[in-house]
Amino acid sequence: MKITFEVTRRKSAQDKPYTQTVTIEAQDTTVAEALDIINAGELADDPITWESSCRQKKCGACAMLINGRPRLACDTRLSEFPKGVIKLAPLKKFPVVRDLEVDRSVLFNDLLTLGSWLEGNAQSGETDTAYDASRCLQCGCCLEVCPNFYAGGEFYGSAALAPASRLIAQMPDEERKRLSDAYNGHFYKGCGKSLSCRDICPAGIDTERLMVRSNAVAVWKRKFRGKKK
Ligand code: SF4
Ligand code: SF4
Ligand code: FES
Repeated sequence: MKITFEVTRRKSAQDKPYTQTVTIEAQDTTVAEALDIINAGELADDPITWESSCRQKKCGACAMLINGRPRLACDTRLSEFPKGVIKLAPLKKFPVVRDLEVDRSVLFNDLLTLGSWLEGNAQSGETDTAYDASRCLQCGCCLEVCPNFYAGGEFYGSAALAPASRLIAQMPDEERKRLSDAYNGHFYKGCGKSLSCRDICPAGIDTERLMVRSNAVAVWKRKFRGKKK
């Protein structure tokens, strides 16, 4: 099949973006493989910069805007675009490094500020929630569509909800207070429940379910206990 790519490129964060159009003949493959074909052929002298690692929908590195929608390049097939035109652009909520590569350090810094780690031993219990949350790729697609998230803000979005939910489900009681406070401040208070994060998540994580479980443990049970005292 003949496919035309319109790629938003820029040499660096300081340079102005421009659109480059490339048409290739390809079998029904993924956008990730098509980028390899382009970079090895038509644009071998000036390859498009983009990130990938696993090529198996596991690392989240290849997230980009594909016809305006945040998606994984390794999990998007060319046959999904019968008109034969695919527009590629970098995610908009993160600073561009070059071409389709963005700097997602804000996402990882937010996890550090949140304190998303376990100091004691995990306890069994909410294993379904913990398993669902553990599938998060930290790709940032949910942040791209979240109306309440912006880089550097106090609200960390569903990329923080998922790891927090996993830990809240498994933490020993004495440790849970620390993360529950952070969850309250950096997720619960800022989330508008629009749920666009759930619709876009390439891992298929039911973020609404995670919210319901984590809100119950980290917010409501604590408030209820507080009133009884
Ligand atoms: S919740 Fe989904 S969309 Fe958000 S970072 Fe995790 S895998 Fe990506
Ligand atoms: S429900 Fe809406 S506001 Fe809350 S994290 Fe998801 S997209 Fe953002
Ligand atoms: S390369 Fe890892 S998710 Fe696409």
